[in-house]
Amino acid sequence: MEKTTQLYEGKAKKVFATEDDNLVIVSYKDDATAFDGLKKGTITGKGVVNNRMSNYLMAQLEKEGVPTHFVEEINDREAIVKKVSIVPLEVIIRNISAGSFAKRFGVEEGIVFAEPTIEFSYKNDDLHDPLMNAYHAIALGVATREEIEEIKAMAFKINEFLKAFFLNIGVKLVDFKLEFGKTADGTIVLADEISPDTCRFWDAETNEKLDKDRFRRDLGDVTKGYDEMMKRIFG
Ligand code: TMP
Ligand code: ASP
Repeated sequence: MEKTTQLYEGKAKKVFATEDDNLVIVSYKDDATAFDGLKKGTITGKGVVNNRMSNYLMAQLEKEGVPTHFVEEINDREAIVKKVSIVPLEVIIRNISAGSFAKRFGVEEGIVFAEPTIEFSYKNDDLHDPLMNAYHAIALGVATREEIEEIKAMAFKINEFLKAFFLNIGVKLVDFKLEFGKTADGTIVLADEISPDTCRFWDAETNEKLDKDRFRRDLGDVTKGYDEMMKRIFG
């Protein structure tokens, strides 16, 4: 399958049309941004890690009965995925306190929650992705009540699978962000990516950060998190 016209360029990916109206090709870049694009950089090899890791995890999730947009990996940086319209919600699951949660509630990072939490942000860069609850999303027509219930159930199921998967390779899944899309027939599927850009990964023994926080927080050796996660998943 060949790329035809470019449909979209985001901060970390490009999306191309194909000869098939229902399929697009995503191409992962090494560009990294943080804080709404205020901080910019390049993480060499990131696109390869994010593409391969995301494809692998989505294929596993499909086997667990979670519908995803993933169709086929074409090469190190590119995959064929179903064309979807993205539900403009960032769905964030947390197992351990960190990041904006720690800041908002004035607690330290590293508190292990008795139960995972879920929150939504409205995907809108101009508004800086404001926090949004289910009622707000329904009021604004972002999603229906049924769609939100379906998304919540899928997100918690994905969390259970990913938590166990990562623990098995010595990594704590602290928190992560998911996006969902609707296919032409209205089915809700997991879309976007699952990668060190969109998850917090801490080494299970040392709590060393193995994700994009190394870039966001200038922790040094930014590629290390990506390379280490790649090694643990693919050997
Ligand atoms: P937060 O603690 O900054 O709200 O981030 C929660 C999770 O969401 C974390 O794993 C990183 C991920 N995330 C994104 O994927 N994109 C974003 O724009 C932000 C702010 C966070
Ligand atoms: N998506 C964020 C940005 O707007 C990056 C992040 O913190 O993950 O640049």
